Amino acid sequence: SNPERDRLLQAYEWTAKFYHFLLKNTEHGKAAMEYLRSRGFSDKMIDLFQIGYAPDRWDTLVQFLTKRSFDLGEMEKGGLLSVRSDGEDYLDRFRDRVMFPIYDRNGRVIAFAGRVLGDAQPKYLNSPESKLFNKSRILYNLHQAKPAIRKLRQIVLFEGYGDVISAWEAGVQNGVATMGTSLTESHTGLMKTMADEVVICYDGDRAGQAAAMKVIPLLEGIGLRVKVSVLNEGLDPDEFIHKYGQERFVRQIIDGAVSTTKFKLIYLKKNHILLEEEGKIAYTKEVLPIIAMLQSSTEREVYLRELSAELQLSFESLKQDCNEIRQSMQKNM
Ligand code: GTP
Ligand code: MN
Ligand code: MN
Ligand code: MN
Ligand code: MN
Repeated sequence: SNPERDRLLQAYEWTAKFYHFLLKNTEHGKAAMEYLRSRGFSDKMIDLFQIGYAPDRWDTLVQFLTKRSFDLGEMEKGGLLSVRSDGEDYLDRFRDRVMFPIYDRNGRVIAFAGRVLGDAQPKYLNSPESKLFNKSRILYNLHQAKPAIRKLRQIVLFEGYGDVISAWEAGVQNGVATMGTSLTESHTGLMKTMADEVVICYDGDRAGQAAAMKVIPLLEGIGLRVKVSVLNEGLDPDEFIHKYGQERFVRQIIDGAVSTTKFKLIYLKKNHILLEEEGKIAYTKEVLPIIAMLQSSTEREVYLRELSAELQLSFESLKQDCNEIRQSMQKNM
């Protein structure tokens, strides 16, 4: 046993409960509650994910922890407090933010992500890394998603906390998110122990789609089957659900997720004007190597036929180019 670690876990647990109480039951939390409502967070989700509010004051948590005899230096090291710039006193680290507790896989609170109510920067403030919290190992919501993941052998990977929460309410209960967009080997290794398939459901903006392109080889590289959700209009999953509804989200975005090859074709197409000869040729040069990599000739034929119809090029010439690329790839191996 490790007493310092146990005290910190206790502090995080109580702090999460405290922030949740302040949000729901006090005047301090009113504006944050209105903000959450305006974004479509239900009471049920606010309770299940234990969302809270850190008031716009310097010492709310300092006083709470002091009353409970916690060592403030220890709490500062553990990421709950900061030191005043003159070094003389402790301050609340999180102020005037909506608080999302971050849980480890056993359901213990080990960190927070705090969101501003408006458009100020930084939008999210995370707890620093601590004895308890290692960002590159944590998947948000894994503790609640585990049973569904094991049952379905599938994980839905989101970018944001709001996406996980709204998807959960829509019935997608195998969803997790990283703390930001970078997916580490420790994340993918953990995913591989629980699932055979991952649906990447990143934001529909350029950054999100580019991040999806990067993540595909990391997941496929360790033998996971991968599908990708295609979100349009730059919407993220949370926004899609509130705009088009839960049922359409599940049907179109989750069940309708496409193969990674299809996703790459859609993604790369955006860079080219296919009505122009140069555009057609440049696009073909980018996608043929992707199709040529596919092991099954049936699969190659499926995509080559789609390409042929879309670009109005003969299937035979595309197939010939594809085969030549394949042969030169095999020579170089
Ligand atoms: P909302 O605007 O509240 O819906 O958040 P979002 O999840 O849609 O945010 P966004 O798509 O911009 O970013 C995706 C994820 O990246 C967030 O959920 C965070 O984990 C992370 N992120 C975004 N902005 C910041 C930031 O300013 N600081 C940190 N540390 N992480 C951020
Ligand atoms: Mn509650
Ligand atoms: Mn985003
Ligand atoms: Mn987003
Ligand atoms: Mn969002």
